[in-house]
This record gives sequence, structure tokens and C-alpha cells, in this order.
Amino acid sequence: MNNNYIDFLNKFGENHWLQTLQTLLSEIHAVDRSAVQIWFRFYPLELARALQTTEDKAKLVQQFVLQGDYELTNQIDSSHRFLYGHRFWADVKKAIEARAENFSGENADLANQIKQIVQTVSEKTKTDKSLLVAIVAVGLMTLTQVGFDTFKNASGKTEKPRGLMNNSPQKIINERAKDDSQGIFGFLKTVDKKWTVRYESSKSGDGKFKMTNDEEIASGAQRDQSQNWREADIRCGEGVIPVECRSAACGTCWIGVLKGAEKLSEVSTRERKQMKIHGYRQGDDAKPILRLACQARANGSISIVIPPWNGVFGKKIYGNVADVELEPATTSAKKLRETISSATENN
Ligand code: FES
Repeated sequence: MNNNYIDFLNKFGENHWLQTLQTLLSEIHAVDRSAVQIWFRFYPLELARALQTTEDKAKLVQQFVLQGDYELTNQIDSSHRFLYGHRFWADVKKAIEARAENFSGENADLANQIKQIVQTVSEKTKTDKSLLVAIVAVGLMTLTQVGFDTFKNASGKTEKPRGLMNNSPQKIINERAKDDSQGIFGFLKTVDKKWTVRYESSKSGDGKFKMTNDEEIASGAQRDQSQNWREADIRCGEGVIPVECRSAACGTCWIGVLKGAEKLSEVSTRERKQMKIHGYRQGDDAKPILRLACQARANGSISIVIPPWNGVFGKKIYGNVADVELEPATTSAKKLRETISSATENN
């Protein structure tokens, strides 16, 4: 193996990756534009590096109160299932491996690397380049985090698209945005309007549940008891979305909003600060794509993706966590309370 490529990729920090992604957004098909930004927040490079370089990983995992599947090593072929580009993964993976083995390194640039691999896969599969940029960026970040041998050893196999994902990109976009009809007298309804929440979960698969107008997303999820959610994900005691405190303290309920972020309530100061404390990097928008499901209220149908893990690492990884009054007394996890408290001390 030519390690030049890993050395090249390791030159870039998380901020550079996010800036590169930003510059490529206009070249990414709308079906994956939010999804790829969510994926990069679900699998932060600096957290992966902290876990890889620590002398005592078990201790760090405990310190960050990490729960669930927070590493890509065991999810190389599946972490990106909520991207349309997931269906091209086998070809993308092979093209990345070939690039890694033949990389010479002169004048290399991250955005150009992504574009060159996109070009190769596009020619081979006769696929529009806009559908490949996101999955290639995800593939290169996965290679960066897991290393070449582990990356190559993954089978590259993916499940066939199913449900809504088994449609054209435009149909997926349209369906994700579509509000439920409220019946012929729907225009008279106010508080009793019902909305659909479509979800993608690496643990529980894809599905949907109903929620009442202006209700918190997590409350709607809780009413759907059609499955034993805990069997699929130990964190899910009350529905497909893991919850614990329901007061913006524990960060367990974070989600990515694939479509319909504008139909959610504005992020509160407390929710924004808590996201920062936990290390979940949402933007400065009033209605960003990462939310706490116990806080965000919906006024329309939305599509979300549920991350397979949660933790508290914002201060240690990114620093500059703003001081905030916390009320974590409602959570049952003593360790979680202590970590959140220490994460907000002396900032
Ligand atoms: S359940 Fe604790 S922050 Fe939402």
C-alpha cells in the first residue's frame, strides 16, 4: 500500500473538510445536499482522531459519555445509507482504493481529489456527477478515519434501496417535502393538524410516524409503539428516537433534518448552546439541520435521520463552549450529569 494518500488526507482538519464541502455544495444534487452535511456532523473527524490517538480509549469513551456506534470502522458500507449516492458505493469504494494505491501527490487539493474520483465513477457508471460528489466526499472521509487496510477489507456490499429511496432523486425530494392533506375541512383545523415524520435510522431502518401540529418531534415518536425499539437500539426506551431528559440537557435525542427544517420552531438559545456543549456542530441558522428532537416543534411534515450514537465532547474537542445554566436533574444518568456540568465549568 502506498501510504502517501493517507498522509495527504491526514493533512486536513475537520474545518478544512467542512469548508471544502461548502465549496462543493452547488455541485451536489439537491437530493443529497442536506444529507451529506448531516453525515459530516454525525461522524466528526476530530472526535475520531481523539479516540485514535488517546492512550486510554476506554477512559475517553467514558469521559465523553459515548453511547452507541460512534466509530466508522464497523459502518464503512452502511453509515451513508440515507444518501441517494449510497447505491453507487461499491464503485465509489473501488475508485477510492485505486486512487489511494496510485497517488503521486503533486499539487494535490482535497476538492480536486473529490472531483477526479467523481469523474472516474461517472464515466464508469454513466451517472450524473451531481449524484456522486456527496458519496465520494463521504468515502474519502471514511478512508481518512478508518485507514486503508480496514477500508479495503470492507465488502463494499450495500442493501438495495427500499421504501422512498427506491425512487428517482426528484420524487424523493418531492415526497420528503410533502405536507399531509388535512382533509376537505383541513383549512379550518389549527391545533389538531397531523403531520408525518419520515425517518431513517441505521438501527431501526426507515419508517414514519405521525405527530400533532406544534408538538415536539420526540413526543410524536414516543406514541409510535409499533415495534420494540429497544431491541434495535438499547438507547431507545420510548420510541425510535432515543431520549432521556427531554429538557435539552443530555443530547441523546439529536437528529439531522433531511427536509423541512424551515417547518420547525426556531432553535432556542438553550438548544443552541447545548448542541455546542455536546459537540454537535449545527450552523448559525435560526432553523439549522441538526436539532434536539425533544425541543424542535414541527408545523409541517418533515424527514429526519437519527444518528446511531450520542456523547458530550464539545469542550474537549472544539473548546469555546459558552457558559450556560444547566438543569440536568431530570436525567437518570449520573455520569451524564457530571460530564455536562464539567463541560460548562470555567468557560
Ligand atoms: S432528551 Fe435529552 S436533550 Fe433531548
